[in-house]
Amino acid sequence: MCGERDGTIELRYARLVLCEECFKKYFVERVRKTVDEYKMFKPSERVAVAVSGGKDSVALLHSLKMAYPDLDIHVIHIDLGIDEYSEEARKVTEEVSKLVNVPLHIFSLKEEKGYTIKDFIGTKYGRRICGTCGIIKRYYMSYLAKKIGADVLATGHLLDDVVEVMITLFVDGKFGDLITQKPVLEPDFPNQVRKVKPLVKIYEWETRLYVDLNNLPRLTRSCPLRIGARSIRRKEIIMRFEEQEPAFMRRLYRVFTKKLIPILEKSVEKPRLQPCKICGGPSLTGICSKCAREVYLKDKKHLDIKIG
Ligand code: AMP
Ligand code: FES
Ligand code: ZN
Repeated sequence: MCGERDGTIELRYARLVLCEECFKKYFVERVRKTVDEYKMFKPSERVAVAVSGGKDSVALLHSLKMAYPDLDIHVIHIDLGIDEYSEEARKVTEEVSKLVNVPLHIFSLKEEKGYTIKDFIGTKYGRRICGTCGIIKRYYMSYLAKKIGADVLATGHLLDDVVEVMITLFVDGKFGDLITQKPVLEPDFPNQVRKVKPLVKIYEWETRLYVDLNNLPRLTRSCPLRIGARSIRRKEIIMRFEEQEPAFMRRLYRVFTKKLIPILEKSVEKPRLQPCKICGGPSLTGICSKCAREVYLKDKKHLDIKIG
């Protein structure tokens, strides 16, 4: 791209070899193009960026700020209360928000609700604790985004993530759920924000490199509650396809989003959602999955939990 420096980074999917400076520019440019292609937000909108402290959401925040310096960006972070892991996550998020000069809003489960994800250990939700954590995180990310007046919620989901989830859903026959992997999810319920994935065309190895080349802070430990490596194993298998056939993941994602999902949207009936009797959020049965878990903790563990 620059015609000056030596190229050291090979992007086989694009048949490009770039120097470090040009790679950083190319990364930002691709984030901008993805946002524009899928009309993720307008320049006048407030964008809440969900930062966990991991490399992906750190790269997301930094590249969005580089691509759109005048955009009204706010960082949101959910403190899950998982000991040193959450302490470091919070610290990294504070550091990177300061670095890019963006306001930060923290929602602490312990302080606001009176429990932490650790309280699910040893309960019936303990064996699939990451799933429960995901339900709770997703709820409070949307809640906080709405509370700070954001129009859009951006998350750091990458190409490797969405392709792995899509293959898993496909194998499990959960075709209706494939729709959730779209780059843009318009709210399908009152009081929700639009959800967008600006890194959906970026590979995981690229965010790692982007964070390193820009010397950005990032979480050094992984969640101690994480068990089961199925998704990691599947990602490795998909990566092997990619090595044999560069751009495999990009093509697969394209086919899913441009060809398969439009067919599914016409043929698969959307689940009928009703307001949760406790929090008013979307639910299938009248009590949402998040509130069901909070009620369970309060009843079984006699914790002083603010439900709703
Ligand atoms: P995960 O499901 O943990 O892979 O996270 C996917 C995305 O959700 C991340 O890239 C972040 O954008 C967001 N996210 C996850 N955990 C948090 C958190 N504790 N606080 C804020 N955002 C988060
Ligand atoms: Fe949710 Fe580890 S971050 S269980
Ligand atoms: Zn609820």
